[in-house]
Amino acid sequence: MASTSRDLFGSEANDEAVRGTCDDASQCKRFAVNMGYWQDPYIEYFVRQPKERKAPEISRGETSAFIGRETRRQSGYYARVQGVGRLLKAFLQKTKCNCQIINLGAGMDTLFWKLKDENLLPRKYFEVDFPSIVARKIHSIKSKPPLSKPIMESHSGESLLIDAHSLDSSRYAIIGADLRELPKLEENLKKCNMDPQLPTLVMAECVLVYMSPEHSVSLLKWVSGMFPTAMFINYEQVNMSDRFGQIMIENLQSRKCSLAGVEACKSLETQKERYLHNGWERANAIDMVMVYNCLPPDDIKRIEALEFLDEKELLEQLMQHYCLSWATKDSQNLGLSEIAL
Ligand SMILES: C[S@@+](CC[C@H](N)C(=O)[O-])C[C@H]1O[C@@H](n2cnc3c(N)ncnc32)[C@H](O)[C@@H]1O
Repeated sequence: MASTSRDLFGSEANDEAVRGTCDDASQCKRFAVNMGYWQDPYIEYFVRQPKERKAPEISRGETSAFIGRETRRQSGYYARVQGVGRLLKAFLQKTKCNCQIINLGAGMDTLFWKLKDENLLPRKYFEVDFPSIVARKIHSIKSKPPLSKPIMESHSGESLLIDAHSLDSSRYAIIGADLRELPKLEENLKKCNMDPQLPTLVMAECVLVYMSPEHSVSLLKWVSGMFPTAMFINYEQVNMSDRFGQIMIENLQSRKCSLAGVEACKSLETQKERYLHNGWERANAIDMVMVYNCLPPDDIKRIEALEFLDEKELLEQLMQHYCLSWATKDSQNLGLSEIAL
């Protein structure tokens, strides 16, 4: 059995709970899509119809791990999807799509398919997650033509490589790996033709917070050391030292899921410092209230009409506890440091 010393400390159980956040996130995203917050024609192929109604705070602003049964969820949400999307598109524009994207802890993310529809595919798009999550995703891809067809269409050359825990085509690769084991991660990415010289966007949405600060620091350092021209986009908790943050932590703990990386989520400053101390030239961090306020007024009007939200304060409190941060290094002088929301 591949059981390790990690089991002795209950870490294997925690890893299982962390893997469970993938379903939480994708179900909440599917719910938000069903409600009309944003469009995603692919999510239905990865995620079953959610049975439970999600609170509007979740679809609109944040996910989470907090108050009450209904909202004890990690999920995507509108401001986050828009915020990450804008930064990503700015990177694709600066690099003219002559780049690669590595989506860490991608879960059931559908970004590859959406970028293909928009004719915005990078030279190669990689996803990484735990092997069991990747196996599920590959199964869905293999069995559902709307998912496999775009991969085949964008594939050229020899036959596509596929096994239980990885799939490698010319434009899309998915790799089963643990983000805390960097030599293996690097080896697997290189096997799938990751090119360190290409401008590289690395994304992590609700992922680093599940890793110890040592592991997330090593990962950020590894990325900055590997790619001379790069951008990192991270979305996760912030301001976690206050009472509200404490409740979020306790709610996740009651689901046997610990936020091992919460130390780095104390403030926007700690989020920025983590980049600047680990090889990045520029760093930015803004909370989700700021992201929400950057949305076009018509957009806000539209989504606020979708569902009745009686607790505006709660939405605001939640959004104060999540942030979008990004960092750049730019040896090719592409203007990456100018990227902003
Ligand atoms: C909350 S989900 C977010 C999924 C996706 N990024 C999204 O926003 O929809 C966290 C994801 O990170 C993955 N993850 C967390 N720690 C990981 C690790 N050490 N190695 C690989 N994947 C990890 C989990 O399996 C899960 O799919």
